[in-house]
Amino acid sequence: MIRSLFARKPIAALLAEGENPNGLRRALGSGDLIMLAIGAVIGAGIFGSIGSAAAGQVDAAGNVVRVGAGPALVLSFLLLGAACGLAGLCYAELASMIPQAGSAYAYSYATLGELVAWIIGWDLILEYAVGNVAVAISWGDYFKSLLSGWVDMPVWLTTGYRTALLSSNPQVHGLIDSAPHIAGIPILINVPAFAIVALITWLLLLGVRESARANNIMVAIKLLVLGLFIIMGLQHINTANYHPFAPNGFKGIHQGAAIVFFAYIGFDAISTAAEETKNPQRNLPIGILGGLAICTVIYIVIGAVLTGMVPSKDLGTAADPLAYALNATGMTSIAKIVALGAVVSMAAVLLVFQYGQPRIFFAMARDGLLPHWASRLHGKYRTPYVTTILTGVFVALWSLIGDAGETYDLTNIGTLFAFALVCIGVIVLRYTDPMRPRPFRVPFVQVVGIIGALLCVFVMRGLPRLAWVRFGWWLVIGLALYVLYGYRNSTLRRGSGPVPVEPPPPIAR
Ligand code: ALA
Repeated sequence: MIRSLFARKPIAALLAEGENPNGLRRALGSGDLIMLAIGAVIGAGIFGSIGSAAAGQVDAAGNVVRVGAGPALVLSFLLLGAACGLAGLCYAELASMIPQAGSAYAYSYATLGELVAWIIGWDLILEYAVGNVAVAISWGDYFKSLLSGWVDMPVWLTTGYRTALLSSNPQVHGLIDSAPHIAGIPILINVPAFAIVALITWLLLLGVRESARANNIMVAIKLLVLGLFIIMGLQHINTANYHPFAPNGFKGIHQGAAIVFFAYIGFDAISTAAEETKNPQRNLPIGILGGLAICTVIYIVIGAVLTGMVPSKDLGTAADPLAYALNATGMTSIAKIVALGAVVSMAAVLLVFQYGQPRIFFAMARDGLLPHWASRLHGKYRTPYVTTILTGVFVALWSLIGDAGETYDLTNIGTLFAFALVCIGVIVLRYTDPMRPRPFRVPFVQVVGIIGALLCVFVMRGLPRLAWVRFGWWLVIGLALYVLYGYRNSTLRRGSGPVPVEPPPPIAR
């Protein structure tokens, strides 16, 4: 029984799924992948969570939830760049070797066995679907500030119940009493966040090529807008804002990194496009590492410019910190342009994550760990339409009443956990399957994998206790579902007996 929990899926079987002529359509090249990576990475993290990373965070009762990094935020970005760079190398090796839509889920099925694969698949819901809840809500905030002055929607239609409940701002918290009530329940819903998720879901149902084109346009806009912020911001730097450089010492840099990690999530998401990528062995590593490198440089520059424009402690209460800094330095029309860019940027993030989650569900359903009907492809568009719709409904409904800050932490802890396991998985596979061709090889794999995993765990430790408790509960629920459904229905177990024997690997070239 214990051995069968760790049954590994043969890599040959994973590869055969990716080659199925009736499967997903291969339409993406390396340029598309770099654009998809930037599309997934630059979003709510840099436009939203950067504020609390620099300033710290206080809860509704006035307790300090975390301390901020101050101008030393650039060091938080460097720390994260190192952690994500090492994890990115490991992703690149596994993605080039096992180009399959399930991403970290599929890699761990091949390396660490079914139980760990299930845990990772379940955990990735935190990264993709729950992460998108945070992005959709942040999108709604910027959308609202973009329209302010022209169209003012009632606050109770643009604020989720959890946001009002958790806010330390008395005006927002007071909405619980002042909003309309039905049967004693306050009506506090975020209609813009709901609507953008619905729109993106519809776009994804039309197919990947069309979605990639829309993504390329959105990425071009976000790069232009961030470039504009840097150029304009550089002219309004007040060097006094850089003192003290690290007001809360290393603790601030660490806790700041733990929240702004959200800004890095997404470079790994393009591995879910493996089955829709031309020559994935070559193009996936280029997409993952290229996208990550570009974003790291942009973040360090933005962090340095932002904390030079305004005192870091002022950034904590702003839902739109970049626009806030521009307004505070008198550049109100540039602030509007940046708000527009933020709206577009976050739509791109939503697109990539709403794209990735259904493909992970699709891979899990194909393995029997989720119901088989979830792996159906659309007859005309060949998209996994069942899981696309399910993901859309889940994210849209949560965005309607949820809070962004609450979901950042949950997403970060889940994603860091997945990254750590991928770093370990790549080492395990070098021992269990040393001869298999690796189109991309991590140099000094033991050092890279172990330090990568340790850095991810270290960043996780910067998250508040509540995030750990929730994460623990999430894993317990996942394990219960595995016992009740996945364990009994796994095609690997049913098809080949309790512990399948891996076929001999092809000769390495
Ligand atoms: N990295 C993505 C963002 O910041 C998730 O929105």
